[in-house]
Amino acid sequence: MKIQAVKGTRDFYPEDMARRNFIVDGWKRASIRNGFLEFDGPIFEYLAMYQQKSGDEIASQLFAFEDRGERMLAIRPEITPTLARMVNQRINALPRPIKWFSVPRLCRAERPQKGRLREFFQWNVDIIGVDDCLADAEVIFCAVDYLIEAGLGSDDIVVRISSRRLLASLLEYFGIEESQLDKVYAVLDKKAKVPPEAFEKMLEEAITDADKRVKVMNLMAAETLVELEQFAGNDENAKKAVDELKRLFEYLNVMGISEFCTFDIGIVRGLAYYTGIVFEIYDKSQQLRAICGGGRYDNLLADFGGPKITATGMGMGDCVLGIVLEEKGIFSKAAVNGVIEYFVAYAEDALRNDALNIIAKIRRAGKIADFSYKGGGLGKQLKQASAAGAKQCVIIGQEYSQKKLILKDMIKGEQVEIVESEFLGQLKNAD
Ligand code: HAM
Repeated sequence: MKIQAVKGTRDFYPEDMARRNFIVDGWKRASIRNGFLEFDGPIFEYLAMYQQKSGDEIASQLFAFEDRGERMLAIRPEITPTLARMVNQRINALPRPIKWFSVPRLCRAERPQKGRLREFFQWNVDIIGVDDCLADAEVIFCAVDYLIEAGLGSDDIVVRISSRRLLASLLEYFGIEESQLDKVYAVLDKKAKVPPEAFEKMLEEAITDADKRVKVMNLMAAETLVELEQFAGNDENAKKAVDELKRLFEYLNVMGISEFCTFDIGIVRGLAYYTGIVFEIYDKSQQLRAICGGGRYDNLLADFGGPKITATGMGMGDCVLGIVLEEKGIFSKAAVNGVIEYFVAYAEDALRNDALNIIAKIRRAGKIADFSYKGGGLGKQLKQASAAGAKQCVIIGQEYSQKKLILKDMIKGEQVEIVESEFLGQLKNAD
C-alpha cells in the first residue's frame, strides 16, 4: 500500500524548511524588538475550551478525539484560549502588562484552499492588562514592522481596522438585541468572503426584520469613519467607540504607519470573543484571504474563570504570507541551512583519517564543514564542493607530510599553502 500525506498538510523538505525558518525567524526578531516574551502551551487541550468562547465556526473545524481516560480533547486550532488559561493560572505572579508571543503549529479541519490548510503555523502577539487602544496600536505596529522587514510596503499590504464595540452599539441602536449579536457578527464577517446572494440569504436568516436588515446593509456600505459618525447620531456608546478608533489612528500616525492603515466597517472577525477594536491585514494585489487578523478580547480571561483583565492581540499564519513573499521574490533570500564554509578534500584514501581529524576540529571551532564520503579524485571532490556552494576548500595532499594544507577560495579561485596549526588557530580567532 502506498501511503500518502494527509490532505491539507505539508511536508517540509530542506528548501521548504528554509522558507519556513525565514518566516519564523523574522516573526521572532520582530516580537523581541517590540518587547514581547515567548511562550508556548500543549498541542491539545480539553475540547470544551474551544467550544466555550471561540464561536461556532472554529468549533466546527476541530480535530477532536477521546483519550483512553474518556476525556474529550482537541488539537489546538488557535493559541489564544491557551494563553488566557495560562495567564489566569499565574495572574497574581505575572508583572503586567503581559506582552507575550508564540509561534504555534495549529490544526483546523477547514476545506483546503489557496492560503488555507489543515495544519499551519501562526505567529501570535498579545498584550494583556492594558485598557487603552495604545496596546492595539502596538500589536498592529508589531505586525506591520515584521512585514516591512520582510520587504513589503504600503503598496503591497493594507491593515483594515474596525471596532466591534462600534458595530455592537450601532446594531443595538437599530434595535437588534444583544443576544443576537454573535449570530449577526458571524454573518457580517462573511460579507467579503461569500457571493452576495449567499450573504443576503444568511443575513435574512440572522435578521428577520426587513427594515433592520436594510439599515444594516446601509451601515456596511459606509466607507469612512466620518460617514459612520452620522449613523451613530447621539448614541453615546457609538460615539465613544468612534473616539477610540480616532485615537487608535492617531497612535498609528505617530508611530509612522498610517499609510498602511484604513478604516473598514466590513472587518468583523470570525471568532466570537472579540469585544473592541478588530483588524485584518490583506495583500493589496490579490483576492487572497487575510494575512493576519486580531483584535481586543476584554472578556476572555474572565470567561475562563479569571479576573476581568483586558487583552488584545493578533495571529498571522504562514500560508497566505508565504504566497505573498513568493510572488514578490522575497523568498529568494531564504537560504537552505548550513551553507558550507569549509569543504575538506583529500588527495588519496590514506589521508582520509587526517581529513576527518581536521573536519572535526573545524566543526569544534564552530564553523560549518563537510567532506565527501566516497573520496575519489581531487577534481571530483572539488566539483562536489562547488555544487554544495562551499565557500572554501581545505585540500589535504602531499604537503601534509610537512603538516601543511592548501586553502582554496572557491569564489575567487585563488589558493594558498598554510601550516595546519596556523589554519586552526585562525579559525578560533575568526568572527
Ligand atoms: P484567525 O483570524 O482565526 O485568528 O487566524 C489568524 C490568521 O491565521 C489568519 O489571518 C490566517 O493568516 C491564519 N489562518 C487561520 N486559519 C488558517 C488555516 N486554516 N490555514 C492557514 N492559515 C490560517 C486567530 O486565530 C486569533 N486567535 C488571533 C488572535 C490572537 N487574536 C487575538 N490574539
